[in-house]
Amino acid sequence: MALKSHGRKSISASLKPRSLMDDSERLAGVWMAQVITLLPQAFPGLLGESLTGKALKDGLWQLDTVNLRDHGLTKHRNVDDTPAGGGAGMVLRADVMGAAIEEAHARAPFPRPIYYLSPRGPRFDQKMARAWASGPGVTLICGRFEGLDERVLEHYGIREVSLGDFVMTGGEPAAQAMLDATVRLLPGVLGNAASTVEESFSDGMLEHPQYTRPAEWQGREIPPTLMSGNHGEIARWRREMSETLTRTRRPDLWAASREDLLDDDIRAIRDTQTLTAFLETEAPELAQVLRERPDLTLPADPLRAVALLARLARS
Ligand SMILES: C[S@@+](CC[C@H](N)C(=O)[O-])C[C@H]1O[C@@H](n2cnc3c(N)ncnc32)[C@H](O)[C@@H]1O
Repeated sequence: MALKSHGRKSISASLKPRSLMDDSERLAGVWMAQVITLLPQAFPGLLGESLTGKALKDGLWQLDTVNLRDHGLTKHRNVDDTPAGGGAGMVLRADVMGAAIEEAHARAPFPRPIYYLSPRGPRFDQKMARAWASGPGVTLICGRFEGLDERVLEHYGIREVSLGDFVMTGGEPAAQAMLDATVRLLPGVLGNAASTVEESFSDGMLEHPQYTRPAEWQGREIPPTLMSGNHGEIARWRREMSETLTRTRRPDLWAASREDLLDDDIRAIRDTQTLTAFLETEAPELAQVLRERPDLTLPADPLRAVALLARLARS
């Protein structure tokens, strides 16, 4: 990364606009979200409310916004220009964004992963939220107009990340959504840490349905198992509901979780005989390859052995 180091500074946990902060308010070593945006007034926005807002006030995380307009050119502080090659709209200039990135780095030196919010990126998910939460923080670049000059991404090695397969007018709502999902995973932000263990996506599954008082509403009762007091039965019921919901609503998640389970089972296999027996029930087409090729030498690693059989089955 071609960034200059400008010495160590920490950034405020205050909800005040950054221009009103001074260095004494800034917290060293606290997880930091840094956002480069044309709309700094939109932050903390929703992140200043409820649990994320309380955590921000309590110094469990800190937020720093870099105003792209501060680096605009001419007396009009222009940040954009017409697309090279023609076409509709405007593009954020590389020299303007480059200066904003240098400012972001000077105020709070990287390494923090830096991402450009963009519909072209891989979709943000719970796994990414967990990875961001376990690091020192993240710097997010919010695009506007038709987007950002590609050379900035190349020069700084910036990765892209998308909120989903739709196009918004700017990256700010995406930044707030991703930061909300990340900040709630930071230690101490949620009152009940167990709730992040059991919720949707924590084990690759959707969560079971939830109920609370009154016990009967509009003629509908809470499922009797949940009222039984039998914790084993309740856990089983929740697991079954979670599996049914995942299988029916998100076959992609269901297939991935099945594959993970299968991988775990295969990893535990130590000899060809057990592998053959396993494949007979779980993947008969691969067992068939083994039967047809008794001379085949399989790799010792059972996962690689299965990969080889799958390749042979396809050929
Ligand atoms: C109108 S969009 C530009 C879309 C771009 N021309 C394209 O077709 O990919 C303006 C900015 O909004 C942000 N944005 C829009 N949709 C997004 C999404 N699904 N995820 C993340 N950021 C998004 C990006 O920062 C983008 O630069």
